[in-house]
Amino acid sequence: MTTMPSPTRTTLLSLRGVSKTFGAVNALTDIDLDVDAGEVVAIVGDNGAGKSTLVKVLAGVHQADSGSITFDGSDVQIADPSAAIHLGIATVFQDLSLCENLNVVENLFLGQELSPLRLDEVAMEVRSWELLRQLSAKIPTVRIPIASLSGGQRQTVAIARSLLGDPRVIILDEPTAALGVAQTAEVLDLIERLRERGLGVIMISHNMEDVRAVADRVVVLRLGRNNGEFDAHTVSSSEVVAAITGATDNVVTRRRDRLQNLEEQSGMASSHDGKETT
Ligand SMILES: Nc1ncnc2c1ncn2[C@@H]1O[C@H](COP(=O)(O)OP(=O)(O)O)[C@@H](O)[C@H]1O
Ligand SMILES: [Mg+2]
Repeated sequence: MTTMPSPTRTTLLSLRGVSKTFGAVNALTDIDLDVDAGEVVAIVGDNGAGKSTLVKVLAGVHQADSGSITFDGSDVQIADPSAAIHLGIATVFQDLSLCENLNVVENLFLGQELSPLRLDEVAMEVRSWELLRQLSAKIPTVRIPIASLSGGQRQTVAIARSLLGDPRVIILDEPTAALGVAQTAEVLDLIERLRERGLGVIMISHNMEDVRAVADRVVVLRLGRNNGEFDAHTVSSSEVVAAITGATDNVVTRRRDRLQNLEEQSGMASSHDGKETT
């Protein structure tokens, strides 16, 4: 007897009721978020929606005031950035934190030269090529300074560096924000490589085209709260934009609005019939 293969979802990261205030500002209120292995989750929202705060909570830069975070099935505290990395949550911040004057290999291993797994120059170069090849990265040589790389190549180096610690979840903050069309395509390809490798990918983005091109799920934040979650393959840009701006909450309110419109229209029609206007 054969059994049908069931679609398996391995939830890597799970947030429930996560809140964070800065003084009187509620940056995050009651946030829920799930990220599966081999899934790209886009987090979208207007300025001030809480995206960066959420990233920083997951990166261990900020601590949540309340709520729970589960990683790989266990409740965890992410007390500081090294705790996040130790768990297997890597973050590529928007500024990329690369050293312009250092070359690709030096940037990849910056701060890790003195680790117990210290590698020599040759080993570091070999490992660099390995990583970049896995990402199908288009970098001509690993011995040129970051300053002479394109924006897409820099993003690639920053992502490659975050993979050195063998993370399970990788967070990319606005990975395509500063890039032209061709470089954006390169980075979107790279995100697909990460998904193929089974990582859970969280991508913060303002660009709806990029989101729909590469994400599996779209999570909308608005004023620090969850404001909708969509299948990225089927949702329209206008639906996402409506959730971002708060023009509508969800399919239920949309349906209600549609019915109300119909009622109003038929009401108008009948009042025209009776030629009664008030
Ligand atoms: N370190 C901080 N101190 C005080 N307020 C902050 C701090 N970081 C963020 N905020 C506030 O929290 C809210 C969410 O900001 P943020 O997470 O940066 O949003 P986004 O990244 O979506 O634009 C905003 O009102 C912002 O002003
Ligand atoms: Mg931000």
